[in-house]
Amino acid sequence: MTLKRRLYRGRDVRRAQNIAELRAMASARLPNFCLEYLEGGADDELTLHRNRASYDAIAFTPRTLVDVSVRDPGCTLFGQRIEMPAVIAPTGFNGLLTHEGDLALAHAARDAGIPMCQSMVSTVALERVAETGVRHWMQIYPFKDRENLAGIVRRAEAAGSEAIVVTTDVPVLGNREWDRRNYRAPMKLDVANLINVALRPKWWWDVLVPHGMPHFRNLGDILPPGQDDARNAATFLSRQMDPSLNWQDVQWLRDLWPRKLILKGIVRPDDALRARALGVDALVITNHGGRQLDSCVAPIEVLPEIRAAVGPDMTLIVDSGLRRGGDFVKARALGADAAMSGRATLYGLAAGGRTGVAHALAILRAEIDRTLGLLGCPALTDLGPDCVSRPGAMRGA
Ligand SMILES: Cc1cc2nc3c(=O)[nH]c(=O)nc-3n(C[C@H](O)[C@H](O)[C@H](O)COP(=O)(O)O)c2cc1C
Repeated sequence: MTLKRRLYRGRDVRRAQNIAELRAMASARLPNFCLEYLEGGADDELTLHRNRASYDAIAFTPRTLVDVSVRDPGCTLFGQRIEMPAVIAPTGFNGLLTHEGDLALAHAARDAGIPMCQSMVSTVALERVAETGVRHWMQIYPFKDRENLAGIVRRAEAAGSEAIVVTTDVPVLGNREWDRRNYRAPMKLDVANLINVALRPKWWWDVLVPHGMPHFRNLGDILPPGQDDARNAATFLSRQMDPSLNWQDVQWLRDLWPRKLILKGIVRPDDALRARALGVDALVITNHGGRQLDSCVAPIEVLPEIRAAVGPDMTLIVDSGLRRGGDFVKARALGADAAMSGRATLYGLAAGGRTGVAHALAILRAEIDRTLGLLGCPALTDLGPDCVSRPGAMRGA
C-alpha cells in the first residue's frame, strides 16, 4: 500500500505542523524572484546545504529515567530572561515578503519573549521597530561613509537598542547566481518573472499596492536624496560595502557604542579571541546562511572549538541552518547561549505575516520543550556535549 502523504495546502498558517510546512506555504504565496531572494545561497550552494547537513548529522544521546515533568525552554541572555534560546536574525528587505515585515517580526518576537536584531537594510525605520517594545538589536554593515554610519549608531542609542551587531562577513557581496538569473538588467525583472509576479495578486496587493516598492528606511542619510527605494539603492549599496573593514574599525565602534557590541561573521577561534580582547561582548558564529563564502564551514561544526577558546563567559550565538527546535537544543548542547533564526521565521512571515511569525516561534518553542523532555534534560542548563554525538568527535568532547 502506498501512503498518500501531503502537506496542508490551505491558507491558515496556524495549521502548519512545522517550519517546512510554513516554507511550502511561503513558496505558494511569493513570486519567484522573492522566493529566490529568500532561499538562495552563493555559488554552488554547498554552504547552504552543509548548514542543514551539519545539524542532521548530530544525533542525541538521551538520558533515561529522569523526571521531566517540569521543563523550561527559557534561559538568560545578557542577564535577562528569554523564553527560548532564540533571537530573530537580521534580514534585509523584509518588506518584500510582506508589507512592513520588520514590524510583524518585532511584534511576534516581543510576544514570544525573545530579542530581534533588525537589519540596517530593512524597510521600516529602526525607531518604529524599537517602539514595539521588543528587545531591539541593530545590525550594521560598515559602509564606507563612517560619519553616516555613526549617525545610525546614535539613532539606535536614542531608540534604546540593547546591542549593535556588526556584520563582518560581507567585505564583498556573495555571488548569488540564481538570484541574478531573474533579472534582464540590475533590478529589472525579465519577462517570465513579470508574468510570474502578475500571477501572484495577493502578494502585490499586500506589498506593492499600498506604497509601491519598499524603501530602505534606515539609509535616508546615506543614500542620495530620493533614492532610498530598492531599485535605485541596490547599486549604490553594493558600492558602499567597505572591503577595507578591519579590526581597527571594531575598536572605533567599541569606543563609539556604550552598550552590547556583537560581531556577526566569526567562524575561527583566533578571531573570537581577538574580538574578546577588543571588548566585544558577544559573537554570532555564522556563514550568513550560505549566502556569502561558498564552501565555508558550518557554524555548528566550529562552535565547540570556539567555546573552548573563549571560555564559558563570553556570549556565543550561532545561526545558519536551524529549522527545528531540536537544532536549537543541539546548539545549546555544543556551547551556544542562543541561536539566531533567519529563514525559519521568514517562512512564517512570508506565509502569514505576524501570525505566521508567531506560529513559527510557537512551533520552535514547542519542539525545544519536547526535545528537552525526550532528552532527559528538563532545563537548558542540563545540556552538555555528552547529550549529542557528532561526526568526527569523541563522545562528550
Ligand atoms: C533574505 C535574507 C536576508 C538577509 N539579510 C541580512 C542582513 O541584512 N544583514 C545580515 O547581517 N545578515 C543577513 N542575512 C543573514 C541572516 O542574518 C542569518 O545569518 C542567516 O539567515 C542564518 O541562516 P538561516 O537563514 O539558515 O537561519 C540575511 C539572510 C536572509 C535569508
